Amino acid sequence: MISSFEQTPDPRVKFLMEQLVKSLHDFVRKTDLTFDEWGYAIDFLTRVGQKCSGSRQEFILLSDVLGVSMLVDAVNHREREGATDTTVLGPFYVGEHRAMPNGADISAGVPGERMFVQSRVTDLGGKPLAGVQVDVWHADDHGFYDSQKPAYEQEGPSSRGRFVTDADGRFFFRTILPCSYPIPTDGPVGEMILQTRRHPMRPAHVHFLLDGPGYEPLVTHVFVEGDKYLGSDVVFGVKPELISRIEKRSDAVMPDGKSADAPWHLMSYEFRMKPGQGRAPRPIMAATEHA
Ligand code: BEZ
Ligand code: FE
Repeated sequence: MISSFEQTPDPRVKFLMEQLVKSLHDFVRKTDLTFDEWGYAIDFLTRVGQKCSGSRQEFILLSDVLGVSMLVDAVNHREREGATDTTVLGPFYVGEHRAMPNGADISAGVPGERMFVQSRVTDLGGKPLAGVQVDVWHADDHGFYDSQKPAYEQEGPSSRGRFVTDADGRFFFRTILPCSYPIPTDGPVGEMILQTRRHPMRPAHVHFLLDGPGYEPLVTHVFVEGDKYLGSDVVFGVKPELISRIEKRSDAVMPDGKSADAPWHLMSYEFRMKPGQGRAPRPIMAATEHA
């Protein structure tokens, strides 16, 4: 069977196909897979595909909850040399990030406790990096991303935006304090999570994707310290270095000098980027056309 790939022109494709078949055959042999179980798996994967749409990626969700996404991340980031830890991209990176000036509110009109996020981006030696493009996105205070809501097509993005670091490597913006939330459980992946008696929760976090010339793109989150799901994230994405204490503040002005009309939260985090190349991930949606 393995030898059927003998003529594959691309050596990497040949290697991947041979190893995939070997692992699948090992699985069938080790488990004595029955016809019913094989049929269930085919039906399950069919439903995963059917659940995908222009704004939903059920296959990424499946990879995430099986720990495959974090493993792919780990084997591709063996040498971090002091750079900020990476974590999953997740299925809600839909790529629609509007460029906004520093200080903008990405959650204007969204109910929730107000939060100011301030950050600096440096290289491994602490030198500030100017001109780094930073995409940010997070869930609302009911635990939903904009793209999960029926109104998304008409209303467009919210609680997501794109910033660029200034000459001191800084970027900052306003938003709301995110909360822990369940991954979508209305599809086959959620069904699997519930049937296997796992919980579907992710601890509260903000997503960041940093991309600057001459540096490896950095895909990560900052998690909210104290969240009760930090130790049992359904997608295994938590790393201790990414947990940040969010300060509760009642000062009348926020760090950029503008007034605050109610108590607010402050998230401060410094990102360190590793020199290198690489393409920032693009969203993979069902509607993506392949050449
Ligand atoms: C997220 O954090 O957006 C996410 C990541 C993996 C699976 C589901 C959601
Ligand atoms: Fe998330």
